[in-house]
Amino acid sequence: MLEKKIAEFEVGEEIQGYFIIKALNVKTSSNNKKYLDFTLADKTGEVNSKLWDVKDGYEDMYQTGILVKVRGNVTSWQNVMQLKVTRIRLVGEEDQIDITDYVPSAPFKAEDMMNELMETIDAFKNDQLKILLKAIVEDYSEKLLTAPAAKSNHHAIRSGLLYHLKRMIETGKALCKVYTHVDEDLLISGIILHDMEKINEMVSDDLGIVSEYSREGQLLGHIIMGVKKIDEMSKKLGIDEELSLVLQHLVLSHHYEPEFGSPKKPMLPEGELLHYIDMIDARMYDMELAYRDTNPGEFTGPIWVLDKRRLYNYKKEK
Ligand SMILES: [Fe+2]
Ligand SMILES: [Fe+2]
Repeated sequence: MLEKKIAEFEVGEEIQGYFIIKALNVKTSSNNKKYLDFTLADKTGEVNSKLWDVKDGYEDMYQTGILVKVRGNVTSWQNVMQLKVTRIRLVGEEDQIDITDYVPSAPFKAEDMMNELMETIDAFKNDQLKILLKAIVEDYSEKLLTAPAAKSNHHAIRSGLLYHLKRMIETGKALCKVYTHVDEDLLISGIILHDMEKINEMVSDDLGIVSEYSREGQLLGHIIMGVKKIDEMSKKLGIDEELSLVLQHLVLSHHYEPEFGSPKKPMLPEGELLHYIDMIDARMYDMELAYRDTNPGEFTGPIWVLDKRRLYNYKKEK
C-alpha cells in the first residue's frame, strides 16, 4: 500500500505507488501532441493524472479497472491537485498485489448493507410493497453488492449505490418522524427503487468501476428503465394498479426538472421528500470528498457538481 493518502500529496513532491485506473481518455494538447488523461485511484481517494506526449497506440496498453505502478510529480492546476506521470507500468503477478486493496469502496461491508436493506423491506406494513420490493431487489442483488451509483461524481465507488440507498433510507426514516402524514413504506420503496436501474444503465465491473453507459442506458436512462421495471414486475406479481403507478411516478419525478430527466414534478409528498433526500445525500457526499483534498483554514478548488462553488474548510478544533 501507499504510505501516503492521496489527499496528503504535496505539490512539488515525487510520488511512487500502485494505483487503479478509474478512467482513461486519450486527448490532444494545444501543441497537437497526444496525451493520456487518467483518473488514478486507491482506497484513499483519486487524483487526475497526465502522461504527456505519448506515441500512437500507447493507450492500448492501458484500460480502466487495471492496476498500474506509477511514478510522478505532484502539481496543481486551477487549484486542483494533479499528478504528472513520469513512469508507468502494468502490474503483474510478481508484484503480489491484491487489487481490491486499491479500490475505493463504501465505508461499510456490502453484505451488511444488503442485510439492513432486506430487514427494512421485511419490516414494511404494506404487504404489496413488501412482495414487490423483495422481488425487484432479488433481481439486482448480485450486482447491487458492488455497483457504484455513478461513473464519476457522487458515490462513484465500489458498493456506492448500496451506500447511497443506506444513507437515504436512514434520512427517510428520520424525516418520517417529523412529517407524520407521509407514507413511510411508500417513501422507502421509492428510495430503494429510484436509482436501481443505474445497475443496467452503466456497465460496471466487480470492482465497481464503470467503463461506459449501456445502449439502453444511453437511449432511455435509469429513470425510464426503472419505471418499466416496476410496471413489468407489478403486472407479473398482481400488484394493485394504483400503487404501482404511484411508485412509478416517484421514480419518474425524482430528478424534479425536465432538463435533468424527469418529465413530471413530484405530485406526492413522498416524491417531494425523495427528491430532496437524494439531493442531500449527493451533495453531502461531494462536499465530504472535496474536503479530503483541502487542509483546515483553506478553500477547496471550484467544484463543478456544486455549481463551481469553492468550499471553506472551517477549522473545527480550536
Ligand atoms: Fe437518479
Ligand atoms: Fe440517487
